[in-house]
Amino acid sequence: QKLDIELAAIEKGGYDHFMLKEIFEQPQTIFDSLRGRLDAKQGTLTLGGIRGEYEDMLKNAKRIIMVACGTSWHAGLIAEYVIEELCRIPVEVEYASEFRYRNPVIGEGDVIIAISQSGETADTLVAIEAAKKKGAIILGVCNVVGSSIARLSHAGAYTHAGPEIGVASTKAFTAQLAVLNMIALKIAKDRGTITDQRYQYLLNELDAISDKVATALKLSDSIAAIAAKYKDARDFLYLGRGYNFPVALEGALKLKEISYIHAEGYPAAEMKHGPIALVDEHLPVVFVATKDSYYEKIVSNIQEIKARKGKVIAVVTEGDETIRGLADDVIVVPEADELVAPILSVIPMQLLAYHVGVQKGYDVDKPRNLAKSVTVE
Ligand code: G6P
Repeated sequence: QKLDIELAAIEKGGYDHFMLKEIFEQPQTIFDSLRGRLDAKQGTLTLGGIRGEYEDMLKNAKRIIMVACGTSWHAGLIAEYVIEELCRIPVEVEYASEFRYRNPVIGEGDVIIAISQSGETADTLVAIEAAKKKGAIILGVCNVVGSSIARLSHAGAYTHAGPEIGVASTKAFTAQLAVLNMIALKIAKDRGTITDQRYQYLLNELDAISDKVATALKLSDSIAAIAAKYKDARDFLYLGRGYNFPVALEGALKLKEISYIHAEGYPAAEMKHGPIALVDEHLPVVFVATKDSYYEKIVSNIQEIKARKGKVIAVVTEGDETIRGLADDVIVVPEADELVAPILSVIPMQLLAYHVGVQKGYDVDKPRNLAKSVTVE
């Protein structure tokens, strides 16, 4: 038994939990997912798994449909914004469980991107099986090499996050975002919907993101202190806009999974149509409010929460004094272009959920009722 305990400690590499180890591995796993593909110096992107006829099909896609579940679905939502912005191709993001049962319209020129860490999620697998039969092209973005979804796909790009043991997905998510960003940039370049200058700039931004993630990880102790302040709240609200809206969804999901606190993620402006009714001095509201084209708008959303005495925890960009003056707590991350910023702004979400869960005494690696991979319906 002693040996088992020691083995487990070695596997966790000195961390208390797999989840924390995996959160801290992210500078490396993002780097690994970009390595050999993105060459910022040369200004090139090479995706070995999407070549020839599949590269052409992607370039000429009339529509792209993302199919996924859970955290992977959130990665799809972010990719929707990025691909539409850079490639001007309409994108839809579908819950696999809905898509598979609702007789969706699929036709020539549709490309489906299946996003799955495990590559074994039953709903995602069955959804793409059906779409494939209808003639759609399937690209897989999977983490597990040789998994069912990877094998069923016509082409794809693996995330290189390494084995993810913690049930709540962390490093797989940021690796998915890195890969989906590369796919978007590749399509945009092939279609000529991006200028050379912006292409090079975004390659540089993506290349630089893993170092910024490393900087954000240094906030773990200060985020633990914030967690201690709010861990007894009954509900949390998470708000974001634009590229950061799905990050708010992911933040809420992580908190629910790990700490069993009810949390809702919402687009910040949409809160006026419902969640604002919940705001009082007991409600912590997490804002993902890094500097981007929505910044001014989100500042007024923060003011709306403060006017109703809500507690504001804001993730902001270095140098932001405006929100610092408004929020109860700020978490400061380095500056990054808004298209790649979610890779960075999700780090405080993961750490906040982790610390709340640990402080409440829960087994964060194996939250109750959840499975790492949902291989049944
Ligand atoms: C389960 C896991 C989540 C994961 C989801 C999709 O719910 O607990 O962490 O995001 O399945 O899994 P996949 O392997 O398809 O990404």
